[in-house]
Amino acid sequence: MSAVLEISGLNVQRGAKRVLTDLSMRLPAGRTVALLGPNGAGKSSLVLALAGVLPVASGRIMLDGQDLANRPCEAVRRAGVAAVLEGHQVLTGMNVEENLRVAGFALPPAELQAQLEEAYGIFPELRELRGRLAGTLSGGQQQMVAVAQALMARPRFILADELSLGLAPVIVRRLTDVLKALADKGCGILLIEQFTHVALRLADHVYVMNRGRVHFEGSPAEVQANPQVLHEAYLAGDFQLGRA
Ligand SMILES: Nc1ncnc2c1ncn2[C@@H]1O[C@H](COP(=O)(O)OP(=O)(O)OP(=O)(O)O)[C@@H](O)[C@H]1O
Ligand SMILES: [Mg+2]
Repeated sequence: MSAVLEISGLNVQRGAKRVLTDLSMRLPAGRTVALLGPNGAGKSSLVLALAGVLPVASGRIMLDGQDLANRPCEAVRRAGVAAVLEGHQVLTGMNVEENLRVAGFALPPAELQAQLEEAYGIFPELRELRGRLAGTLSGGQQQMVAVAQALMARPRFILADELSLGLAPVIVRRLTDVLKALADKGCGILLIEQFTHVALRLADHVYVMNRGRVHFEGSPAEVQANPQVLHEAYLAGDFQLGRA
């Protein structure tokens, strides 16, 4: 049986505010799951909780019979769950290769080298740019570095938060093609995407959130056939009410 990242009954607080409420979601290996919802819905908070950055008040994040909730970030990465966080989280004062080596620091040296080759195989552009300071790269190139950093963890699950934000369509296509190839090779992908049509094109399954809860789940075809699902969620969002 293939692996599933199984989230159940997750509750997460940020300060005094409950940002995830009783949230359950399944992310199977080899599948792309789109997570849609308005600004402030809690999408990034979910990624941060899954990645071990935000504490989990209650609920479980099960993988291979282990609960990853409240495990340190590095333990979550070692278990095979890698996040590409919102914004290009690259080390701007280091060059491209240093960024990738830092991301792969937990690997034994021979495996680190092999993984570096794999990342450069997926992004040949980065091999050309290996000596360039990450801070001098374009937004699209930085996002490639961010995805390649996730690949250095040899992930079985990738959580991609707003990969396409502010990027040209040609780069968005490049990045989504990479995610699709990874899913075809058995990686589970959680795709948070402002461009609903991009998410629906790639996804096998869709969750729509608002105010920290799952509002709807179903196939991309169901979402397309019932556009009110998205309208309701987006109209009920904090953003629309001016409370983001
Ligand atoms: N650093 C923070 N400290 C405290 N609360 C935060 C912080 N960042 C976000 N929040 C709150 O957490 C809630 C969920 O925000 P989150 O960023 O997870 O939503 P999102 O769905 O990713 O939105 P967006 O589409 O704007 O990225 C919001 O109410 C937001 O105000
Ligand atoms: Mg977000």
